[in-house]
Amino acid sequence: MINDNKKEKGVVLYHSGAGSTKFIAQLITEELSPFFDMEISHIKNEFNNEKLNRYSFVVFGFPTHHAEPSLSMLEYVSGLNKFSVSPKAFIFTSYGLYPGNSLRIFAKFLNKKNIRVLGSEEFKSPASDGVLLFPDKLKFMFNFEQNLYRKIKNFAKQVVSCKTSENNKLPPYKWYVPLNNLIKPLGEFTYGKYKKNISADTDLCIKCNKCIDNCERNAWINISEYPVFVVDKCEFCLECIHKCPVNAISFSENMKNKPRLNEKFFKTVKYEQL
Ligand SMILES: Cc1cc2nc3c(=O)[nH]c(=O)nc-3n(C[C@H](O)[C@H](O)[C@H](O)COP(=O)(O)O)c2cc1C
Repeated sequence: MINDNKKEKGVVLYHSGAGSTKFIAQLITEELSPFFDMEISHIKNEFNNEKLNRYSFVVFGFPTHHAEPSLSMLEYVSGLNKFSVSPKAFIFTSYGLYPGNSLRIFAKFLNKKNIRVLGSEEFKSPASDGVLLFPDKLKFMFNFEQNLYRKIKNFAKQVVSCKTSENNKLPPYKWYVPLNNLIKPLGEFTYGKYKKNISADTDLCIKCNKCIDNCERNAWINISEYPVFVVDKCEFCLECIHKCPVNAISFSENMKNKPRLNEKFFKTVKYEQL
């Protein structure tokens, strides 16, 4: 066990657009808290090498985008220096339908910084707003996996029971993922098209600047009366849409006035699943 009588420090660092990854990160933090002195943070809070060195281990969580880790998470790790003493990490992704090799890609990314990956997990979460554009038949994509909470608990157990000396474990390679490359351009094209339509409705906007403050990639800027959207910076993670307190931001007329997420996910995942 990493853990002994004295509580070691651990941190869960996440990137999240629509909120699913954040929610899972919170539940993982809760599960680990009896064993470790836990903290949780969004990656934007400047966790550099020096700060990360204060923890015995780091849990990284990110959404899968186009069968890869979210760009913000990759950029965050790119910005770290190579560690001289290899930190221990556990990684997880939340995905809507098919995570591909996103965990393995991310593990290799961490390895380049000399960060060891000791455990990993994929969590099927509700697909996010893109599904609002599909016919009703596809609304099943709003579902999340039935054993999600159990899986979260098992993931936490992996962390608790991990031996300090354990070596890097790459998540298994899924041979069929290259097939995904055939449909990937279609997904990117579709999302690219909707990304261009992201805008804030000035009739609703209350100029709170939450979109500006929360965007990891500075895709919202403060150069006029209302926040201005810069499409080239956007990774379409949807965080601005979900952080807007008055639902002023959207990328299609179709999604206006529709419930944005599967509320059941946030309300029941912990209480009805065991
Ligand atoms: C731009 C974009 C691309 C996505 N690509 C995939 C994908 O390739 N495979 C998948 O299973 N889910 C995909 N999803 C769904 C998300 O992975 C899923 O909804 C995830 O739980 C979102 O996490 P978040 O709420 O923390 O942002 C994509 C979502 C977006 C916005």
